[in-house]
Amino acid sequence: MVCRLTVYDGDHVTYIDANKGDHLLSLLKENEIPIDSTCNGNVTCGRCKVIATGLVGTLTEQEMALLTPEEVERGVRLACMVRIDGNAKVYLIKE
Ligand code: FES
Repeated sequence: MVCRLTVYDGDHVTYIDANKGDHLLSLLKENEIPIDSTCNGNVTCGRCKVIATGLVGTLTEQEMALLTPEEVERGVRLACMVRIDGNAKVYLIKE
């Protein structure tokens, strides 16, 4: 199934066609969207934070260990742990 991923980087919007099950961090990198991923997806750096809404996989315990309760409340996810389940929106976070 082809999914539409809409990525918001401030005022800049990028549309990405994805397949169900695709890995968000990989999609962002393949489409040259800048995202910090210091640990290269090993879920140790906590740098690949985005806000992800829509049809994405559920929050994992590994992510919760690297996110504050406030971030969880805001819908912040670690891109290296997110699988695409359908149409979704992703907002890049500038710190
Ligand atoms: S790339 Fe390091 S936690 Fe996601």
